[in-house]
Amino acid sequence: MNPHIWIENTEKGLEKASELLKKGKLVAFPTETVYGLGANALNADAVQSIFTAKGRPLTDPLIVHVHNKDSALELLDLMPSERDIFNALSEDCWPGPLTIIAKAKDIIPMMVTANTGFVGIRIPSHPLALKLLETSKLPIAAPSANRFGHVSPTLASHVFDDLGSTGIYILSGDDEIYSKFTCLHGIESSVVKLNGIEEKLLILRQGAITQERLQNILSKTQISWSVHSIERCANLHDDTSSKIIGEVAPGQALTHYASDIPSVIIEQILSNIGDCHQEKKILQYNFDDLKHIVVIDYNCQLLCLKDSVLAYQDLSSNGSSIEAAHNLFESLRWTETFSNCTQVFLPSIIIGSSIDENDIIRGLSDRIFRAASGKKTYLLITNNL
Ligand code: TXA
Ligand code: MG
Repeated sequence: MNPHIWIENTEKGLEKASELLKKGKLVAFPTETVYGLGANALNADAVQSIFTAKGRPLTDPLIVHVHNKDSALELLDLMPSERDIFNALSEDCWPGPLTIIAKAKDIIPMMVTANTGFVGIRIPSHPLALKLLETSKLPIAAPSANRFGHVSPTLASHVFDDLGSTGIYILSGDDEIYSKFTCLHGIESSVVKLNGIEEKLLILRQGAITQERLQNILSKTQISWSVHSIERCANLHDDTSSKIIGEVAPGQALTHYASDIPSVIIEQILSNIGDCHQEKKILQYNFDDLKHIVVIDYNCQLLCLKDSVLAYQDLSSNGSSIEAAHNLFESLRWTETFSNCTQVFLPSIIIGSSIDENDIIRGLSDRIFRAASGKKTYLLITNNL
């Protein structure tokens, strides 16, 4: 293992990180969403090594991080109407957790775009990420710094645990100065794609910039584009929904962000089988089985299991989606610390009809859904608790 894996987050450290990026090395760095695994986006060999380190398929495109709007425009080939939408979105949301996908200019290696010719760009708001982009003067391609399919990292130690032996370097943002910015949102950026031909904004991934906020931004412009989103939760037991997602958005694999332990969403706890009127999948557990279960809860929905299970944690006992999203990935990693845990129960997230534009409930729901690989069930306890 490289003994110099850790890079100080000082000016000197940033110079070193920039030199390493210029030499084609990989440097993980904190953002306001999750840690990213960075490479010089214009160096195809360096980009290739991201895929190798993560064990990521080449069909999954990378997000490119830039320092300012002009640097973003140097990489994008926008139609006039796309330029207007791009301006409105970038002015409102950047620096911040919004990735905008549009046609890539030839300067971007095809591998970054997973051969689609479209690239996602964002300006992160984390001060250390911005300093790295400024010092290196490079566009930095960076997926989340986890092994492919595993839970995204919200601490430098998560990056080390997943990728520490792959020859990467890590710039930590977990000290006193930067920790208040590091992975503040806790889930990845919202990803939108501009489609000037159909005059549509397609939301490919829900995140901290909510659908409601995007709609509000667009409604303030003179341009009448419509906003569409991929609704992963609409068709829970229908395999075709994930096929559609695969076609629309490369890299939108259903199983993602998953803990190494099998996980399932508990829609409801039944007190007897007659309580379930619909044709639903029911998981039957007795009192002894529960001793091997770890529960991640939200808004105290599964609180009645607390004293019967191996371990219990609530992402937000008062139902704050912002707090819950902030805690989710660390909690999923926490479930892996129990050697005798056989299954993780996750909470069901109900998306109401009127959502405040700061409420990141859709992003939270998406990540929990993916952590459970879309598996939802009713729970019936056969012994008395
Ligand atoms: O918050 C974030 O976005 C973090 C930090 C490090 O910036 N990055 C991140 O990257 O989450 P990654 O690679 O783990 O997830 C990016 C996802 C891809 O898996 C894919 O689903 C979508 O964004 N994406 C990126 N570029 C795309 C493109 N050109 N076309 C379609 N989907 C794209
Ligand atoms: Mg990722």
